[in-house]
Amino acid sequence: MNIVKLHATTSTNDELKSRMRESELPHLTTIYTMEQTRGKGQRGATWVSEKGKNLTFSILLTEKTQNLTPFLINQILSVTIVQWLKKDLQVQAKIKWPNDILSVQHKLAGILIENIFFGKEITYSVVGIGLNVNQETFENLPRAISLKNITGREFDLESLLINFLNLLKNNLRDPLGVAQEYYKYLFKYNQITSFKSSKGIFEGIVKGTDPDGKLLLQVNDKLIAFEVKELEWMY
Ligand code: BTN
Repeated sequence: MNIVKLHATTSTNDELKSRMRESELPHLTTIYTMEQTRGKGQRGATWVSEKGKNLTFSILLTEKTQNLTPFLINQILSVTIVQWLKKDLQVQAKIKWPNDILSVQHKLAGILIENIFFGKEITYSVVGIGLNVNQETFENLPRAISLKNITGREFDLESLLINFLNLLKNNLRDPLGVAQEYYKYLFKYNQITSFKSSKGIFEGIVKGTDPDGKLLLQVNDKLIAFEVKELEWMY
């Protein structure tokens, strides 16, 4: 596996995309860094991570991406993170649609996937993951948690990364099979939960997702599909 370790960079997603534009890189090339100066989160947010304490990395997917949809890639990555936390670290986690990994109802990891298309097909995909590992306190982020907070242990970042990549490599052999595990780990699946939309706060039962990656909620006996920007979790 082609793993590049950097002392610092703006964002591992941006770094990987920029290197890919210069020359073609092999499938599963991974860049990880001790410090991001402009770490990116979802919907234009920033991803802040204490220097040297956490895993901030991006993986390049180039093989068979034409057969995948953006949501399938999201599902495979989400399921792989949860499986890996459970198998290797005995940490229970859930997927909070669309991009968060929660443990004990707090955010342990976030995923930012950037797909590069040729027409309707994905030519390659840059999967960025931020996992809170050894950081102990999170200023102004009351909903964040780390592996150290959960287990009381410190972890070696590189070993964690290698184990994760091995599991991902294996899971990519059967992407559809892995994606089928998604509901098993979906946060609040089949449970009544409060949400906020432009119409106000309401309750719905999480029934799953549609193929485009919209969240399916049962609201007053109707099944409604919500896009990411239409909905906020109130948990
Ligand atoms: C989110 O939860 O908002 C997504 C966070 C994704 C953060 C990771 S850290 C490594 C990669 N590089 C970035 O700039 N962002 C992602």
